[in-house]
Amino acid sequence: MTQGTPSQGQSVSGAELRLDQVVKRYPGQKVPAVQSLSLTIPAGEIVAFVGPSGCGKTTSLKMINRLIEPTSGTILIDGNDIRQESATSLRRKIGYVIQGGSLFPHMTVATNVGVVPKMLGWDAARIAERTDELLDLVGLDPDRYRDRYPRELSGGQQQRVGVARGLAADPPVILMDEPFGAVDPITRQRLQDELISIQRELGKTIVCVTHDIDEAIKLGDRILILQEGARIAQYDTPENILAAPANDFVADFVGAGSTLKQLSLTRVRSLDLNQPTTARVGEEMGPVLARAEAAGDDEVVILDDRDRPVAWPWLRQMRNKTKVIGEPRENLVTLDEAATLNDALDTMLTAAHSKAIVTGDRDRYLGVLDFETVTEHMRSAEREAAENVENAEKAESAESIEDPAPTGEAGHG
Ligand SMILES: Nc1ncnc2c1ncn2[C@@H]1O[C@H](COP(=O)(O)OP(=O)(O)OP(=O)(O)O)[C@@H](O)[C@H]1O
Ligand SMILES: [Mg+2]
Repeated sequence: MTQGTPSQGQSVSGAELRLDQVVKRYPGQKVPAVQSLSLTIPAGEIVAFVGPSGCGKTTSLKMINRLIEPTSGTILIDGNDIRQESATSLRRKIGYVIQGGSLFPHMTVATNVGVVPKMLGWDAARIAERTDELLDLVGLDPDRYRDRYPRELSGGQQQRVGVARGLAADPPVILMDEPFGAVDPITRQRLQDELISIQRELGKTIVCVTHDIDEAIKLGDRILILQEGARIAQYDTPENILAAPANDFVADFVGAGSTLKQLSLTRVRSLDLNQPTTARVGEEMGPVLARAEAAGDDEVVILDDRDRPVAWPWLRQMRNKTKVIGEPRENLVTLDEAATLNDALDTMLTAAHSKAIVTGDRDRYLGVLDFETVTEHMRSAEREAAENVENAEKAESAESIEDPAPTGEAGHG
């Protein structure tokens, strides 16, 4: 029936990005917005750019697709200098997604998504096919949404269309500037999960600007922490940055609660999932009830023909029916396998349900996660962190005995 684990074989279709001593000085600026940024982003990775407002994140991003010309320095995509590329060729290679999706209000969803392919001269049938495929990928039913106008969509849905548009021409590189800034926390979490799953599936190189360190920890294979002037404070994996901040700026930026932030490093997929009774829409009810009772389950997860969970009824809600139906949907609480433990807690608390269904690529069912599993994991992570702090304190006091801190020059009597 359900295949246990999702395929991990990721094909990398992304391109390597290299910035070499890139400088941007806006007219009249004394200190350049970007002082000298050198950086390699490996093909197929998500890199999150974080840093305080005005530190040069957007400027750096826009130089990669030449919305802003660098004052000096070089930017290479897979070894090719972007200055040698035509505008069309750059459009083909780099998708761009910004806050709110920034859709054209007078165009339908489908027209918005197809803007770049149209510019590239694709024929109408191919554009239509691609548009439907992408709407499906970002979790919008094409039949329902393709002919709507942006004003007929929620903020989160507009953002999804924005992501679809960024992916439309299948570019190896996608740049995103605060793509999930304007949506509520739960939708934001869904969109992040969607992005991670798209990334898993397509292996793009993604640069995502955010000023939310938790988002960076969740999304980034690596995080680039920038200081004023786009100077690099640290460029490393989330694990390494949390474990060993390079300096006080990074430590402050990452925040005091970094043991709690470890929760953002743990994905739902790494915990043990329960495998309760499942059933298909259309199945005879008798055997399903028998299976559930034999297993001691009081709920059954109902799947559709593509292995997606569609309902999560209590046994008592099923007894008076002869066949399994895709109802009721009210308590269908789902989490993507890429969701973090923070997300899992949020979702369960918001839904007031102590369990959530975990899904993988294209919403395929994987199992059920319960509250106890999450809290147990947190408790053991906390114990571990407390032990680490204790050990570090011991090490520190041993050090200060050997090497007393300098007393300074002033202060005699
Ligand atoms: N068109 C412009 N002309 C002059 N100065 C600019 C221009 N755009 C940005 N700047 C300045 O360059 C610096 C970097 O701006 P940038 O927009 O790259 O910052 P950011 O890190 O994206 O900030 P935020 O988090 O607020 O979006 C800021 O000091 C900003 O005022
Ligand atoms: Mg910005």
